Amino acid sequence: MKGIILAGGLGSRLSPLTRITNKHLLPVYNQPMIYYPIQTLINAGIDDIMIVTGGNSAGDFLKLLGNGKHFGLKHLNYTYQEGEGGIADALSLVEHFADESPICVVLGDNLIEKNIRAAADDYRAQGKGAKILLKKVPDPQRFGVPELDGDKVLRIVEKPAEPSSDYAVIGVYFYDHTVFDVIKTLKPSDRGELEITDVNNHYINRGEMTWGELDGWWTDAGTFESLLLASNLVAKTGANNTDG
Ligand code: DAU
Repeated sequence: MKGIILAGGLGSRLSPLTRITNKHLLPVYNQPMIYYPIQTLINAGIDDIMIVTGGNSAGDFLKLLGNGKHFGLKHLNYTYQEGEGGIADALSLVEHFADESPICVVLGDNLIEKNIRAAADDYRAQGKGAKILLKKVPDPQRFGVPELDGDKVLRIVEKPAEPSSDYAVIGVYFYDHTVFDVIKTLKPSDRGELEITDVNNHYINRGEMTWGELDGWWTDAGTFESLLLASNLVAKTGANNTDG
C-alpha cells in the first residue's frame, strides 16, 4: 500500500499565520505539523509516500524533509497542487504515483494519539473498495458526518448544520485504484471544491465502503482552537504512540 499526505490548500482559516508560510509547516507543540501524518503512515507499515504540497513556501517542505532521513526513509515523493481545488482535487494529482496500488490518504493537518496499523491491516485484507475511520466528537458540524443505521453507513454529509450522529469522518482514508475514476466524475461543491465526502459517498452507493472506530484522541489543526488543542494533546500524551 502506498501513502499520500495532502498538504496543499491555502490555510486561510489560520491567517495571518499562513500568509507567508504553509499551514503544515507550522509548529504543533515541538514538531512541524507535517511530521505527524508522515509518522502515522510509517507506523501503519507504509514507507512509499507522496506529499502533495501547494500554496506558500512549497520549497520549504524539501528543505525540511529532504528524502525523509529523519523518519528512516530512503526517499520521499513530492508534487504541487495549483490553487485550492479541494481535497479530492489534490488527490487526483497522485494517480501516476499510485500506479493501480491501494492507497492510504492522510490529511496533512490531522493528528492521532495512537496508530492505524490494525485498520490498515483490515483494509489490506479487504482488498478492494474503501475504508474510513470515525471518531465521536463534541462538534460534528465542523466535519464530514456519517448517517449510520446500526453498523451500516448510509451516507456522509459534509459539515451538516444538524448532524445526524456524533461521529466525524477523520482525515485518514483507504482507497483502491478506482478512486481516480470516481474523482473524474465529481463536480465542485458550493464552496468550489472537489469534496472527499463525494468520493466516499460514491463508494457507499456501490456498497464498497467499510468503517472502523478510531482508538485514542484525534484532532485536526486547521483553526486557531484546534491548533492549540493539538499542541496541548501532543504535550500531554505524545502522538502516534505505537504501544496500544
Ligand atoms: O479533518 C477531517 C475533515 O477534513 C473531514 O471530516 C471532512 O469531511 C473533510 O472535508 C475535511 O474538512 P476540512 O474542511 O476541515 O478540510 P480542509 O479544507 O481544512 O483541508 C484539510 C487538509 O486537506 C489540509 O490540511 C490540506 C489538504 N487540502 C485541502 C484543500 C482544500 C489540500 O491538499 N488541498 C486543498 O485544496
